[in-house]
Amino acid sequence: MKRIAVFASGEGSNFESLVTACEQGRLHAEPVLMVCDRPGAKVVGRAAAHGVESFVFSPSSYASKADYEREIVRRLDAAHVDLVCLAGYMRILSDTMLAAYGGRIVNIHPSLLPAFRGAKAIEQAVAYGVKVFGVTIHYVDESLDGGRIIAQRAFEYDGSDVEQVRRLTQQIEHSLYPETVEKLLAE
Ligand code: GAR
Repeated sequence: MKRIAVFASGEGSNFESLVTACEQGRLHAEPVLMVCDRPGAKVVGRAAAHGVESFVFSPSSYASKADYEREIVRRLDAAHVDLVCLAGYMRILSDTMLAAYGGRIVNIHPSLLPAFRGAKAIEQAVAYGVKVFGVTIHYVDESLDGGRIIAQRAFEYDGSDVEQVRRLTQQIEHSLYPETVEKLLAE
């Protein structure tokens, strides 16, 4: 069984969908570690509820990003992680993580990349007035949301209700991420 780690910063609904898919046998992987950079985040409770080990840290208690990423890499190595899944982890990875796990890190982004990179992608797309929204899963490299695309799924929506777009986006995310990780691990 392949071993995955999930990184998240907030709500953790994508963490939940990946772990549930593992529990239900739709995703043949073992979630061995959840990494979170915000001690109060809801995802921390979700990891505990599913019995997934977590590493929760405050970036400000480390001297540098390299320092906390070295600690993350140490924990990923100790857990023998095959694939890192970023799921709403709102930090750009530095060389420390990429040197150790480059090519084995994927991210989910709530837009059809290369449109609307970075933070608040849904708000950006609604403000632009697009009629086709979507989700991208891609490899992570040193660029901002610019690594090789693995999967995309689109939907049409004609309106300006950000929360409605978020709901529709997340519905897609919760099926596309487990399906895509399953395919990647089978390769
Ligand atoms: C998801 O919609 C994910 O695509 C997005 O954050 C949300 C996290 O939700 N990621 C990014 O915007 C990355 N640039 P969740 O915590 O409920 O999984």
